[in-house]
Amino acid sequence: MNKFSRIGFILTAAGSAVGLGNIWRFPYITGEYGGGAFILVYLLAILFIGLTVFLAEAVIGQNGQADVSTSFVTLSKTKNKNWKYAGFMVATGLIILSFYSVVLGWILDYMIKSFVFLPTEAKIAGENFENLISNDISSLLLYHTIIAGTVVFIVLKGIKEGIEKINLILMPLLGLILFGLLIYAFTLDSFSQAVSFMFSPDFSKIDSNALLAALGQAFFTLSLGVGTILTYSASLPKNANIVKSSFIVASVDTMIALVAGLIIFTFLFTAGAKSAAGPGLVFISLPVIFSSWGILGNIIAVSFFLALVFAGITSAVSMIEPSLRFFIERFKISRVKATILCGTTFYILGIIALLSMSKSFGEVLTFFGKNAFDIMDFASSSIMMPIAAIMICIFLGYFVEKKTLEEKFTKHTSYTIFSIWYFLIRYIVPVAIIILFLNKLGAI
Ligand code: PHE
Ligand code: NA
Repeated sequence: MNKFSRIGFILTAAGSAVGLGNIWRFPYITGEYGGGAFILVYLLAILFIGLTVFLAEAVIGQNGQADVSTSFVTLSKTKNKNWKYAGFMVATGLIILSFYSVVLGWILDYMIKSFVFLPTEAKIAGENFENLISNDISSLLLYHTIIAGTVVFIVLKGIKEGIEKINLILMPLLGLILFGLLIYAFTLDSFSQAVSFMFSPDFSKIDSNALLAALGQAFFTLSLGVGTILTYSASLPKNANIVKSSFIVASVDTMIALVAGLIIFTFLFTAGAKSAAGPGLVFISLPVIFSSWGILGNIIAVSFFLALVFAGITSAVSMIEPSLRFFIERFKISRVKATILCGTTFYILGIIALLSMSKSFGEVLTFFGKNAFDIMDFASSSIMMPIAAIMICIFLGYFVEKKTLEEKFTKHTSYTIFSIWYFLIRYIVPVAIIILFLNKLGAI
């Protein structure tokens, strides 16, 4: 079995973490919840909850050196075979990947068009976006196919030659583009306005919805609850320092989200646009702003969407890997067969997702008032991810020998860090997630 190098693991796990969640989702959610106070809550959620679950997945994976199901069973006190059902979480990654690939398709379309065309008015920009997602089925199919094909091509080559390699190339490039955009934003007058929007908290904006949004974002952004971090950690040498690596990955992810926020809010404020523009933020508001900058605007727009594509591809490959490893190890099939099976599944689900937003097929693909795209989003991030996260906490907190975990941690870090983590995993995190979960389902 191929193993990651230390830097390979950090870059690859960071590649998974850094994605549309940082550059597309984080800014618009921050905008909707009013900035500074939300960011503070989000940072606390990352530090105490996200990092705790990240470490949990890393411990299970590194210890098991196998797919999700097998790793759970191996680590459990009694080797109870029923823990194999934890393997359900690999399906979540495939569901997320289905609509993530569609969104990446929109981004590809925007990147290509931005070379020659940018809308000059918000109204036109809105119509363009609407037209793409509801009428232009052939383009959407083409882009979804390109993205899905790219993902399949990369994972077919395996964890070292495919996944690690693509991350070693794309992650530095992504860093470079974002750095360039940050420097440019820094030269604009509105930069200081963006800084104060993001870092001066107004606590009157914080309610239970904001808390839940922060927690949900912390999970999504760190790629938790789908077995990605677990599966990547299973390709890590048993003596690698996962505590340190986890801190680094969480820090990198957080930094990129903050940088993306600074860039986007500076651009928005420069144009006097609203910070609360919702999911259309980067597809509607930004292109109009870019268009007022002439040819420089085209260059910035293309770079920006290219950065999103790079960030998204490295996350996309990490969503399919847990299910590949699951099928390869549990059903003893080849990587090629597993890729065909999982690739076809998410490709078809993606087509259903994109058709469900179109005028022609929207109605037949709408169930209980939600279209298939929204159902996949809701089922994965509001139901399956939290269930997996709760399961991970309860498993480590109550069904695994404390001594085993303690040894794992104290090999690399102090006993104090271990005790804090153990306390969080047993009591704080599961309770917080259960509250989030019930609230999202509307029971609280
Ligand atoms: N963390 C990724 C992002 O921020 C999304 C992701 C979720 C990746 C789950 C893998 C698994 O875009
Ligand atoms: Na992220």
